[in-house]
This record gives sequence, structure tokens and C-alpha cells, in this order.
Amino acid sequence: MLSSDKRLAALFSIKGKTALITGAGAGIGKSIAITMALAGGARVVINDLPGSKAHRELVEWLVSQGADAIAMDADVSDERQVLDALAKLESDIGTPDILVNNAGITLPNTIDETGFDDWNRVLAVHLGGTFLFSKALLPKMMARKSGSIIQMSSVVGHQGALRGHVAYATAKSGLMGFTKTLARTAGPSGVRVNAIAPGIVDTEMLRATHGPEGIARLTESVPLGAVASPDEIASVALFLASDAARHITGATLDVNGGLLMR
Ligand SMILES: NC(=O)c1ccc[n+]([C@@H]2O[C@H](COP(=O)([O-])OP(=O)(O)OC[C@H]3O[C@@H](n4cnc5c(N)ncnc54)[C@H](O)[C@@H]3O)[C@@H](O)[C@H]2O)c1
Repeated sequence: MLSSDKRLAALFSIKGKTALITGAGAGIGKSIAITMALAGGARVVINDLPGSKAHRELVEWLVSQGADAIAMDADVSDERQVLDALAKLESDIGTPDILVNNAGITLPNTIDETGFDDWNRVLAVHLGGTFLFSKALLPKMMARKSGSIIQMSSVVGHQGALRGHVAYATAKSGLMGFTKTLARTAGPSGVRVNAIAPGIVDTEMLRATHGPEGIARLTESVPLGAVASPDEIASVALFLASDAARHITGATLDVNGGLLMR
């Protein structure tokens, strides 16, 4: 029984935990990092591509807000970079408690327009990156008997993309299978593995691939009548990372304004 508001609030807190978020220099990942740091009270490790300035600026800003934040440079699809970055993290601060595999790219191409290199690149970032981070951290979380991993899937992983985005939709479906399989492996140790399937989220990725008219058309098909802000995905990530979700594993939470009801 939850006997007081304080105990209820504590369930949603991730204070004292360390959260590693990939692709967190912009968009949804950035919002998750800010939410977990400022609302959740966690220390955040903010990954993005080497050479990206945005994640370093985010670290500086979070620190200026009194949060505990560290930058991690690595292309998530590059095994060497990922392992080196994780080894450095392990020696600097230890194993994160929360992993959010968020980094992603898309190509709007249909199968006719998709070369094998394009296909491999998109799968390498979404599936390869998620595999590398999960494979490295899951055993440590399991040994510790606690941890939460969150994969960033998409509504297109359920229903396919309306046009094109063939590699992207394939990767997003793959993440759902990966999530369920890891959840079965990790369940007995108390480590939870879940996915979020956003619908249409107002980020650079959406603007770059759909343009204003495309976004307006998509918005008409959302029962709640709006695209999501990145914060509306971040709050769900915070929930999944927290003890409030302690009986949820192997789930894909739809955050899509009603775009797909299943
Ligand atoms: N925007 C949407 O409508 C939407 C919908 C469903 C799911 N998603 C998913 O949410 C996640 C975030 O998307 P977003 O819209 O915020 O995208 P975004 O393009 O705005 O941001 C993606 C971030 O990931 C980083 N990144 C890209 N490739 C990387 C790599 N190889 N290694 C490390 N970092 C890398 C980029 O530099 C960028 O900072 C993605 O997995 C995306 O597929 C987005």
C-alpha cells in the first residue's frame, strides 16, 4: 500500500541513479536527458557522435542548472568506439543504472531507392547500436540485480511506414523483438527491458524527412490533433526508468496521440 504522497513521489524518482542516453545531443534524447537529470534527479551520461557539439553544450547547460552530467562521444554503430567509451565510463563512474538506446537516423527511401549500404547503415545505428550498448551493460546490471533498459522504437515498427523508410521501419520492428527477448533473459535478475513507440514527434528528424506540408497531413491523422513534443516522450522514459514501472518488462509503450490503437 502506498501510505503517503511522499512514498508515491519517491516511486517516480531516479535520484542517485546514473542514466546513459544515446543520441542525446538533440531531439527526443536531449529531452530525456534533461527530464532524467532535472525532474528525475539522476546523473546523466549524454552520448552523441564524436565531433557533435550539441551534446557537450547540453552537458554544460545541465551542469549550470546544478545537475550532474557527463558527455560521451561515440558513434553507436562503431563497436570499437562504443567499447572504448564504455570502458572509460566504467573506470570514471562505474556501470549506469539506466540505459536509453535512443540514437537513430532515417532514410525516407522505398525498397527500390535503398542500396545495400544504406540498408546496413540504418540497421547498424538502430539495431547495431542498441545491441552493442545492451550487450555490454546487461550482464553488469544482471549481476547487480537492478537496472532498466529502454529502446526507442516507433509506431512504424508496429504497422510499417506509410511510404518509404523501409530500413527504418524494419529496424524499429526489430527493436521490439530484441526488447522482448532481452526482457526474458533479464527478468529473473530483476532487470527490466522495455521499448517506447512514439508516433510523430516534433524534432529535426521529422522536419528533415516530412517538411511542413507532410507534417500537417500527418497531424490530421492523430486523434489528439497534434504531433508530440519531445518532452511527451521523455516523461514516459522517466516513468519506465523509475520504480513506478517496476512490474513492467518486455512492453512497448505507445506514445502516439492515438495514431495507432492496438
Ligand atoms: N521524431 C519522430 O517523429 C520519431 C518517431 C518515432 C521514433 N523516433 C525515434 O526517436 C529517436 C530520436 O529521434 P529524434 O527525432 O530525436 O532524432 P534527431 O535526429 O532529432 O536526433 C537524433 C540524435 O541522435 C544522434 N545520432 C545519430 N546517429 C548517431 C550515432 N550513430 N551515434 C550516436 N548518436 C547518433 C544525432 O546526432 C542526434 O543528436 C530515434 O531512434 C528515432 O528513430 C523518432
